Amino acid sequence: MHNISKITEDLFWLGANDRRLALFENVYPLPLGVSYNAYMLRDEKTVLLDTVDSAVSGQFFENLAAALQGRALDYLIVNHMEPDHCAEIARVLQVYPAAKIVCNAQTKRMIAQFFDLNLPDEQYVLVKEGDTLNTGRHILQFIMAPMVHWPEVMMTYDATDKTLFSADAFGTFGTLNGNIFADEVDFARDYLDEARRYYTNIVGKYGPQVQAVLKKAAGLEIARICPLHGFIWRQNLGWFIEKYAQWAAYEAEEKGVLIAYGSIYGHTQNAVEILALKLAERGVKNIKMHDVSVTHASYIVADAFKFGTLVFAAATYNGGIFTPMDNLLRDLTAHNLQNRRMATLDNGTWAALAGKQMREEIAKWKNCTVIEPQISIKSALTDAQQSDLDALADAIVAQM
Ligand code: FEO
Repeated sequence: MHNISKITEDLFWLGANDRRLALFENVYPLPLGVSYNAYMLRDEKTVLLDTVDSAVSGQFFENLAAALQGRALDYLIVNHMEPDHCAEIARVLQVYPAAKIVCNAQTKRMIAQFFDLNLPDEQYVLVKEGDTLNTGRHILQFIMAPMVHWPEVMMTYDATDKTLFSADAFGTFGTLNGNIFADEVDFARDYLDEARRYYTNIVGKYGPQVQAVLKKAAGLEIARICPLHGFIWRQNLGWFIEKYAQWAAYEAEEKGVLIAYGSIYGHTQNAVEILALKLAERGVKNIKMHDVSVTHASYIVADAFKFGTLVFAAATYNGGIFTPMDNLLRDLTAHNLQNRRMATLDNGTWAALAGKQMREEIAKWKNCTVIEPQISIKSALTDAQQSDLDALADAIVAQM
C-alpha cells in the first residue's frame, strides 16, 4: 500500500524509510535510520525527481504508481547518480519505457556505467546550468552543483512554486516518522547532530563547492527545500542555510573543547580526564570527550567541525599513533578540516612517538594553531606533570 505524502497541491513525497540498514555507505552507523526521498510533480507533464535505494524499491514503486494515478511518466529528473538515489532508474524505465531522462552530460555517462540500458539519445533531455524545462504550470530550472556530493550533482529549482530540489544538500540521517517537514519536529534538539554528522562526513571535504552552490542559491527566492534525505524545509530556512554556510566555511559553531583520546590501559585517559577538570575549573563549560576506540569516527568528525578547540591524546602503538586515533586524524585530513586551535598529548612507555606524528598529520590542516605545551607522558602521569596540564589548560583557555 502506498504511503505518499502531499507537499503542495501537485507535489508529492514518494520516498521510503530504511530502518534496517546498519551502515550508510557501508561506513556510517544509522541509529535513527535514513530516508531516501523521491518526489513527483504532477503537472501537465508528470515528473519524477530521482529514485531511491534498491533496499526500499518495493515501497517506492507502489508510491510511484499511486502518485501517477494511472498516468504515464513523462520525465525522470536525475539530480544525483549515487546508487542510494539512482538504483531504480533501470526498473523505472522498464515500467515506464516512454519516460525521458532529464540529466546533464556527466550523469548520462554515469547511467551508462551503472546500467546496461543502451538508451537512444532521444530518450535523454540533456541540461546544463540555467536550462529550463516547462512541464505545464511549472518551469524547472537546473543548477549544477558539482561535488555536492559527486561531480555530476545538480539541483532542480521550480521557479513557479519556489521549490529547490537540493539533492544531498540539506539532508540529514534519520527516517521520516510521519512528519515529513522539519517544522513539525524539534529539529535543533533531535536532528541537528545527525544533520551535522551527515553533512560533515558525506560532503564536508567539499566546502568550497558547497559555498559556490550556496552563493547561487542566495540569488533564488526559495519557499521550500526538498532534499534527498530527511526533512523537507518550508520554515526557518535561513537558520539551516546558515548552518551549512558555517560548515562549508569550516567555521566552528561553538566555543568549546573537544577532547578525543586513544588510551590502551587508561593512563592516557586519566591525563585528559584531569585536563578536562582543569578546563572546567577555569570556567570552560562546553567540553566534549570521545574515546576513539569506543565512539564511531563519524561522530568525532562531526564534533570536530562543531567545536573550535580540539585536543588529541593518544598512546604510541607500533612506533606510531594508536590505530583508532591514527585513523581519525587521517579521516579529518581527508575532510579538509581547518581553522581550529589544537593541542596534543601522547604517551609511550619506552618511546613516546605519537605526539610528533599527530602534529605532523595536523600540520596538513589549513589555518590551524597548535597550542603549547605538547605533553608527553611516560606510562603514567607524574605529579610533576600536573603543572604541565595546568599550563596547557591555561593556554587553551587563553586561545578560546
Ligand atoms: Fe545520498 Fe550522495 O547520495
